Amino acid sequence: LRTRKLQVFEKPADAVGHSLQHSSAAIIDVLRATSTIITALKNGCRGVIPAAEIEEALAIRQRINDHVPVLSGERQGRKIPGFELGNSPLEFSRDVVYNRLVIMTTTNGTRTLLAAGAAEKKYVLSLLNLKATAAAMLRDEQDISILCAGTDGGNSLEDSVCAGLLIAELLDSSEQFDANDQVLALRKLGLSHKNNLVNMFTAGAHGRYLQEIGFAADLDYCAGLNKIPLCALFENDVILLSKFDPV
Ligand code: MLT
Repeated sequence: LRTRKLQVFEKPADAVGHSLQHSSAAIIDVLRATSTIITALKNGCRGVIPAAEIEEALAIRQRINDHVPVLSGERQGRKIPGFELGNSPLEFSRDVVYNRLVIMTTTNGTRTLLAAGAAEKKYVLSLLNLKATAAAMLRDEQDISILCAGTDGGNSLEDSVCAGLLIAELLDSSEQFDANDQVLALRKLGLSHKNNLVNMFTAGAHGRYLQEIGFAADLDYCAGLNKIPLCALFENDVILLSKFDPV
């Protein structure tokens, strides 16, 4: 059995100078970009195109003319003026997104997805689809890189906990991983919050902020561990559900 490398970057700056090449990457922004993307895909959208900037999102919309895409995203957690949707997963219902392309720009999440460039496969990970994604990554037989969006350049508790719960799934499998102390510490962190995820969210700065600006319901929703048994891959500028049947 080959021992696989397992590396974690708790904030985007940590990944600078490290190669993601030849690895499967999991990109995490639990509150809320990756939770929202998974929800949109579950509800039948045709795909999600991440954009770093508002202007870029608008330019992508101009280029797509076969359908009316959903323009979505946030700045400071709030819907961007003129956009159809913000970044609350609860807005991305089936009647809104079904059979439409979603263009999304968020402060940290979509930028981190775009920064994962060289990885062999790029999985969009949230607590909602944790187990399904772990199963797919185990099947890939690649080295694994976990990339947290964090908040405004720093770590975020919820992304580190999600990374830790992914690590727990990986290390509990029959695969061999080369796990350093950071990896082991995150596993412990993840497991310690597993049964109290909403409280963990509000212990962190961004969760508390979202609660303050009226998105408490999003916290309950994003804490739904393994509620969506689907994997999503970011490939060729668009995020699509993975064809593999998870589990
Ligand atoms: C982000 O990408 O920065 C987050 O998803 C922000 C948010 O909670 O909307």
